[in-house]
Amino acid sequence: MEVRTLDAAMGAEITGIDLRALSDDTFEKIRDAFLTHQVIAIRDQVLSPADQLAFSRRFGALEDQLNAHYTVPDFPEVLVLSNDVKDGKPVGLIDGGDFWHSDSSHRPFPSMATILYAVKNPNEGGDTEFANMHAAYEALPAAMKTRIATLKGIHAVSKLKNKRVTVSPRRPDGKDFYERQKSLPDQIWPLVRTHPATGRKTLYVSPRFTIGIEGMGEDEADTILDALFAHQIRPEFVYRHRWRDRDLVMWDNRSVIHQAAGGYVYPDTRTMYRTVVAGDRPF
Ligand code: SIN
Repeated sequence: MEVRTLDAAMGAEITGIDLRALSDDTFEKIRDAFLTHQVIAIRDQVLSPADQLAFSRRFGALEDQLNAHYTVPDFPEVLVLSNDVKDGKPVGLIDGGDFWHSDSSHRPFPSMATILYAVKNPNEGGDTEFANMHAAYEALPAAMKTRIATLKGIHAVSKLKNKRVTVSPRRPDGKDFYERQKSLPDQIWPLVRTHPATGRKTLYVSPRFTIGIEGMGEDEADTILDALFAHQIRPEFVYRHRWRDRDLVMWDNRSVIHQAAGGYVYPDTRTMYRTVVAGDRPF
């Protein structure tokens, strides 16, 4: 197994392994690379949904999928992200990841890791961007670090509660889906989170899910959040993954935000299988 750094911001590629036949020792090396590099791209994998599940489960319990009707038949924990259409119907979720976010920060136990397998890459575009939240936190001005040290963000899943995002017109059930999600409880997490495995501090906010600051008026909260949202995606923190066929990419939602960069148009199709490893309550 070889591990090679991909970018100054973060990220590593791993070659020379087959995820269908992993020894415990190699698995531990992958886990180490994941914690060190935050985003890992494991090249040249030929995986069925069952293979992806088996690999994902080695990291812990998996999340159920809120978008249950876009899962792989017989695999309720494998979500299909796709702009493809079959018999006039979307085969997967078309707007997954369309704004910067950390997966499931709106849940009571936010995600530890997301694992995405490239089933079909488009001919153009389809990149995923990742931003390093350890680096973003460390580069904050001292006054901002002090200002946010004890503040907590409000995280909401429904796009209809968030003025900074929009529901994609390409998603047929979008408005109804997000209307139903309005009743799900918001979650309150520290803006500065401590990574449970490494002890490093990380900025835990995102424009997709963070809609306010606990106990603070909207204007004051917006000033802080808008400054953090602009800061956290500065180019020096961002790694842009250009997918290769048979890539499996895994990222640490505790220290990384990400977004799907788009840039492809049907009939050029992109299909990904996505599994999500559940995590701990942020502190
Ligand atoms: C996601 O946000 O989980 C998906 C990102 C992508 O499709 O590139």
